[in-house]
Amino acid sequence: MTGAGMSAESGIPTFRDARTGYWARFDPMQLASEQGFRADPGGVWRWYAERRQGVRAAQPNAGHLALGAFAQRHPGRLTVITQNVDDLHQRAGNSDAIRLHGDILLDLWLDECPRRGVGRPCDTAWAGAGEPPVCGECGNRLRPGVVWFGENLPLAALTAAEQAADQCEVMLVVGTSGAVWPAAGLAARARGAGAWVAIVNPDASEIDSDAHQLVRGTAAGALPALFDGW
Ligand code: APR
Repeated sequence: MTGAGMSAESGIPTFRDARTGYWARFDPMQLASEQGFRADPGGVWRWYAERRQGVRAAQPNAGHLALGAFAQRHPGRLTVITQNVDDLHQRAGNSDAIRLHGDILLDLWLDECPRRGVGRPCDTAWAGAGEPPVCGECGNRLRPGVVWFGENLPLAALTAAEQAADQCEVMLVVGTSGAVWPAAGLAARARGAGAWVAIVNPDASEIDSDAHQLVRGTAAGALPALFDGW
């Protein structure tokens, strides 16, 4: 189960690192909530456009590649659950990674289209520079396909993640502060179901007590060593 620290060595900022984290510099409620988007659609859209650029320019790091290589060597033996909205696990070979918090490279319609009944989907009409595309007919806006604060996680993804936590023999928790639920509860759930739990993180997290073993290392440093030879 991975968090933002998994992608830190690929150059993608985490959220809560004191100096470099997104939430050390921006207000999450303004940029990662529906009300923030409705209040300033252009400002939020531009922030995600900048993040998307960073994701596209990033490369999977040695940690992503170690997980992808293991999955290739042992089909069906590794399930990646990620809180991350980048596509680095997928590009490293874990194409079926369970996305708990959505996909930053995906656009979704903000509202149900009032014309839905007539069967014609919204069309992405003109979008002002730096503004989210708007449906020319009903005024609906596109929004990033990520889970914002206050929104429910995709039920299918959460159910799959809980099943994986219930069935796994070992759970590695990599690069998460354990600050955001329900993702943060998966380690305790796995341990409660009999799994051996290890946390890979250079710093302490809020869920360290759920682990049998703490690995004080980074994703790109520790994961290749942990998976070497398997
Ligand atoms: N390798 C491993 N862990 C690292 C690395 C690294 N190179 N660098 C930092 N970390 C650790 C930090 O110590 C921290 O514990 O990664 C963790 C990142 O924590 P957060 O920034 O809180 O990210 P995350 O836990 O994924 O946040 C969960 O919060 O804002 C929401 O939706 C957002 O998915 C995100 C969720």
